[in-house]
Amino acid sequence: MIRTIAIDGPAASGKTAVGRLVAKALGFWFLDTGIMYRAVTWLALGRGVPPDDADALGCLAGEVQLRPVSMLGDSVEVAGRIVGAELRGPSVDRIVSEVSRHSAVRRALVEQQRAYADAVVCTGNGTGDETLRPGIIMNGRDIGTVVLPSADLKIFLTASARVRARRRCEEMRARGHAADLETVKREIEARDATDSSRDDSPLRPAADAWELDTSELDVDGVVKSILQRVKDS
Ligand code: CDP
Repeated sequence: MIRTIAIDGPAASGKTAVGRLVAKALGFWFLDTGIMYRAVTWLALGRGVPPDDADALGCLAGEVQLRPVSMLGDSVEVAGRIVGAELRGPSVDRIVSEVSRHSAVRRALVEQQRAYADAVVCTGNGTGDETLRPGIIMNGRDIGTVVLPSADLKIFLTASARVRARRRCEEMRARGHAADLETVKREIEARDATDSSRDDSPLRPAADAWELDTSELDVDGVVKSILQRVKDS
């Protein structure tokens, strides 16, 4: 039976939208690990910590607490405050990959991610909500390779840079931010290059991942393919 699903992929490949819908359909928990790296970045911006100060960033990562504040995995507790939407602004986007390169940051966050998955899968959800099952979908860059290498299903979502930039622009505009297609495309390509070339846990598909190119598919199409794959497994 499938209980753990890893979804990895480059920036704006649709992991979050798809992961949430698949989790909802299966009654699973969902955790978007990107929000944790974004939370460290947001703290660093607020405290004036530069993105190359590995030691200070490692300490900040210890202040980001993953709590099951929402089964949708869209918020975290940072220094006693619940944050979510503020993590998706352009100032965080610009430096989040620089912050995420550091092993001190990754160690602190990966430990929490594994503990979270263990808690959900082993002890159930603890919410009293009978519709939730002890299963989790976790998404990020290194879930299938490093965080949950024994995940029951590993998916690597891709799409062309242009398609991803178009999707990200639509999201940004819907949140009230200005967005220029070429600028957004350059930024997500730069982020992919940093994420793929770092020494610790680079962005890449696990050897046993199912690679799904979503350039020609809408969100519902991707969700349907994944649910079919889960059914066939
Ligand atoms: O939503 P989008 O794909 O743009 O990004 P995200 O999933 O929120 O991740 C933001 C950044 O966090 C990525 O570009 C990576 O640098 C970092 N990240 C990571 O290193 N490892 C993860 N498991 C998740 C995110």
